[in-house]
Amino acid sequence: MPGHFITFEGGEGAGKSTQIARLRTFLESVGKTVVVTREPGGSPGAEKIRSMLLSGDARDLGPRGEAMLFAAARADHVDSTIKPALDRGDWVLCDRYADSTRVYQGEAGVDENYLRLLETAAVAGVRPDLTILVDVPAKVGLSRVAQRARDGSGEAPDRFEDEEISVHERRRKLFLELATSESFRFAVIDGTLDLEEVEQEIRKAVVQAFASELKPAQNLSGKA
Ligand code: TYD
Repeated sequence: MPGHFITFEGGEGAGKSTQIARLRTFLESVGKTVVVTREPGGSPGAEKIRSMLLSGDARDLGPRGEAMLFAAARADHVDSTIKPALDRGDWVLCDRYADSTRVYQGEAGVDENYLRLLETAAVAGVRPDLTILVDVPAKVGLSRVAQRARDGSGEAPDRFEDEEISVHERRRKLFLELATSESFRFAVIDGTLDLEEVEQEIRKAVVQAFASELKPAQNLSGKA
């Protein structure tokens, strides 16, 4: 596939959406065509499944059933949005992808081999070239989520946000372990830094990962 696939992962309140928007601006400023998308969702079919999952309507299915729904949503997202964009040669920036299932549903107790089977079926060979893990301690992330809910810039906690802090800490640990075991595709960014610093760190990681295409453009634009 001629395109470039970058996924963003992390716990709640890591600041992924802001950083995705900033990376999009940078890539467009150097002439790239960018598609921003998210999971669960990112295609009409998958958005329907998103509402079921985040409202808690699917909770009765248990973690294994929820994992199946995340996989079903992902399969549609890959077929309808991600793969066509990559085939066109676009840059796809995706807010969460298969690593979120490994971490969130893994933490909820779903068997690793079962999750692997679902992942293989859902992604159909479409794997990220680079995964940006925006890492923040659970306490920091959750206080940002609470602040957003208070000032009206965010929504009330969804089914997966509304958990004990220890659950959020375990997810953080699992993300970091995953980043270590698949370090060839991960860049771990300290999400507690200032927005601008996080932006620069992410840009550096992206330029490094796609050096042959971005180094010349970056020099021309004179940006960091
Ligand atoms: P969303 O509001 O999009 O998340 P965030 O703003 O934190 O990125 O909600 C997505 C929620 O779904 C989030 O709590 C993580 C969870 N999730 C899973 O449990 N498994 C998955 O495979 C995915 C993609 C998300």
